[in-house]
Amino acid sequence: MRKRLTLVSPAKVNLFLCIKERRLDGYHNLASLFQAISLFDTLHFSVSDATRLSCSTLEIDSSNLILKAIELFSAKTSISVQVEVHLQKEIPIEAGLGGGSSNAATTLWALNQLYNYPIPPHQLPLLASELGSDVAFFLSCGTALCTGRGERLEELTLPARSVWIAKPSAGLSTKEVYRHLDMQSLPTRDVEGSIESWRGAHPILFNDLERAAFSLMPELSTIKRELSKRAQVVLSGSGSAFACFGENFYCSLPHVKLYQASFINRTHNCWYKSE
Ligand code: C5P
Repeated sequence: MRKRLTLVSPAKVNLFLCIKERRLDGYHNLASLFQAISLFDTLHFSVSDATRLSCSTLEIDSSNLILKAIELFSAKTSISVQVEVHLQKEIPIEAGLGGGSSNAATTLWALNQLYNYPIPPHQLPLLASELGSDVAFFLSCGTALCTGRGERLEELTLPARSVWIAKPSAGLSTKEVYRHLDMQSLPTRDVEGSIESWRGAHPILFNDLERAAFSLMPELSTIKRELSKRAQVVLSGSGSAFACFGENFYCSLPHVKLYQASFINRTHNCWYKSE
C-alpha cells in the first residue's frame, strides 16, 4: 500500500513591509508582518519508485521549489526520497503571495510526516530558509514578524480579519523589484507601533517595495488609487497583488481578478486545513 498525503498550501500577505538596509550578500534586511490567508494550493503526495511532479496549470522545470525541497530533504536525512507530487494551483504566481515558498514549506512538512519525522519539527524552518527568504514563514503558525532577509520569525497572534486579494493580470519578479529599490527614498518606520495597530481598529499598512514595483509597472498606481476608494490597500510583498481591507468591497477594474480570503492560523502539531 503506497503512503499518500494531501495537504493544502496557503498564500500569505505582508500587512506591512519595512526595508532596513542592503546587505553585502545582495539581500535586504527587512521587518515585515506576514499573515497566512485562506487562499490555497493543494499538494497530493504519494511515495513511489521515482520522483515526479505534475501540475494542473504550470510548466514544471528543475528550478521548481517543490523539487528543490525534495532534494534538500533527501540530502539532510540521507533518505532516498521517491515521491510523486501533484500540485493543484490556485494561488496566482508573480503576485507577492508566496505561493512557491508555501509549496516548498508544505513539501518539507509532508516529507517529514511521510518518512516518520527524521527531522525534529522545530528544525524545519532553518532548513526551509535554505530554499528562499519566505519559506520559513510558512512553517510558523500563520502570523509572524519576519526579520533578517525574511527567514527570522517571531510568532504573533492577531485578531481574525477578512481580506480581499486584487491581482492584476501582469506579474512582477521579486528580484527585479528589489533591483529597482531606491534606498535613499525610504522613510523611517515605527515597526512596534505598526504591529500594535493590527491589534486594534486602525491598522497601519505600508510596503517599502511599492515605489519600486510601481516604477516597473506604472499601471499599479492607478489600480491602487481605484482600489483605495473602497478599502485600505497595500501591495503584498513584491507584488503585483494587493491586499484590500474593507467592508462590501468590490472591484470592476478590467484585468484585475479578486479573491476573498481571511486570516488563518494553525496549531503547532497540525498542518493548515481549508475549513
Ligand atoms: O530569497 P528569494 O530567493 O525568495 O529571493 C529572491 C530575490 O529577491 C533575491 O535573489 C534577492 O534579489 C531579492 N531579495 C532581497 N532581499 C530579501 C529577499 C529577497 O534582496 N530580503
